[in-house]
Amino acid sequence: MLNIILFGKPGAGKGTQAEYIKNTFNLIHISTGDLFRKNIEKKTSLGLMAKSFIDNGELVPDQITIDMLKNEVIKNKKANGFIFDGFPRTLSQAEVLDLFLKSLKMNLTATISLDVEDSVLEDRLIKRGKTSGRLDDQNIEKIRNRFEEYNKKTSPLISYYKSLNKFHSIRGTGTIEDIRNELNNLINQLKLDD
Ligand code: AP5
Ligand code: MG
Repeated sequence: MLNIILFGKPGAGKGTQAEYIKNTFNLIHISTGDLFRKNIEKKTSLGLMAKSFIDNGELVPDQITIDMLKNEVIKNKKANGFIFDGFPRTLSQAEVLDLFLKSLKMNLTATISLDVEDSVLEDRLIKRGKTSGRLDDQNIEKIRNRFEEYNKKTSPLISYYKSLNKFHSIRGTGTIEDIRNELNNLINQLKLDD
């Protein structure tokens, strides 16, 4: 089984790359951000709970996010493996994910970070904000707040996964295709090592 966390700051390209690698390696792609947005669109109670956090560029509280993620994995228990995109984003989410995967006799293969500098990310998100309808893309203050949340709450996961020997990173700038190729090569290597 191949279970990969795609890691990176807002706009790093996690969703874009996940679309490709899920097909190449026959994996289920779980993006917690996409799941929240679907719930907001359908006006579910989960969506209503999450909306103000997301619109302001803040993380949604752990328990809400963890319950949603677990449901999604359980729904797809027979999968070949998963790409986790945008989860975990806090240390407690990471610890829960480890235990949860173990309880299902699954194992995390690796965390792969897409590294991109903030100025490039800001340009990408502002550009997308003109068409995406995402409120958190439309205002530079909210975008910077997302970076702040990442720096404070998510970046500690780098040393966490390094300590487990599960952290890898690649450059997230350049063409989408070049990044995809690099990601493919890395995942193929990880499969061989497994
Ligand atoms: P989420 O939806 O995960 O958003 P994000 O991580 O802030 O960033 P994006 O999804 O916008 O970026 P991405 O890395 O997927 O890049 P993408 O491929 O889209 O989360 C949204 C919110 O939900 C959070 O702020 C939080 O409130 C909540 N949330 C989600 N998960 C949570 C969790 N675990 N805990 C608590 N709260 C949670 O690309 C971005 C743009 O760049 C696109 O327009 C794309 O076309 C373009 N692009 C991509 N690659 C390239 C390239 N190589 N060159 C040029 N352009 C590129
Ligand atoms: Mg995304």
